[in-house]
Amino acid sequence: MRQPFEKGRVLVRIEIARDYEALSERAARLIADEIEARERIVLGLATGSTPLGVYRRWIEWVRAEQLSFAGVSTFNLDEYVGLAPDHPQSYWSFMQEKLFRQIDIRPSNVHIPQGNAEDVQAHCAEYERQIRAAGGIDIQILGIGGNGHIGFNEPGAEFGGSTHLVALAESTRRANARFFKKEEDVPTHAVTMGLKSIMNARQILLLASGRGKSEAVARAVYGDVTPDHPASILQLHPNCVFLLDEEAALGVTEGERTR
Ligand code: F6R
Repeated sequence: MRQPFEKGRVLVRIEIARDYEALSERAARLIADEIEARERIVLGLATGSTPLGVYRRWIEWVRAEQLSFAGVSTFNLDEYVGLAPDHPQSYWSFMQEKLFRQIDIRPSNVHIPQGNAEDVQAHCAEYERQIRAAGGIDIQILGIGGNGHIGFNEPGAEFGGSTHLVALAESTRRANARFFKKEEDVPTHAVTMGLKSIMNARQILLLASGRGKSEAVARAVYGDVTPDHPASILQLHPNCVFLLDEEAALGVTEGERTR
């Protein structure tokens, strides 16, 4: 394996698509090709607005019988604490509505952290055990927060963290208020896969769209690797692609960033 600080090592690969639709098409196709090529595959999935274009395409291709999720298992990055799975704003409900209910995945192959577990610590440990038992994550899809968060690993998050309970940054609660009736309704805590859980994925595909993400993306790619900007840890991953639209890519250049 290549050493993280080896000279000439690729830190991240940057691909730029024209716009959100082109970005979604590219990401959906890349992963669909892997699904088709393997009998079984484990995907790490994200919620939020960014992956919706990917999910829409997968649904279309499943309906057209061009793609099947029969051999796919999934692990979602995170869930709000205090919301039961069937709460309309839970990430469980989001994923059912936006993807799972509309594709041929086996419900027992879908994993999402539980926001209302009685013993949160035990649940987090069990989630990690389930990821290991599935053989680890083959491809992890990520979005990125304006503050550099990935999953709900906010600035200051431990690089060595596994699935754990976190307090959400105020900026994150504000950004996510659009999904709730009012900002006060946004939960204050979440369960998230940790940075170590994310880094254990064999391949990472970070998607970002829009000018609002361009600074966070540039800092993740060119900035110091620091917990102050959690996505910067991706520079240490051996197989990480940033797939961006032109606006999110305003601060970066296409190609490989090497050390
Ligand atoms: C979602 C998640 C978050 C989002 C990020 C970007 O499961 O883990 O890190 O990926 O907040 O959200 P959007 O895509 O809505 O801009």
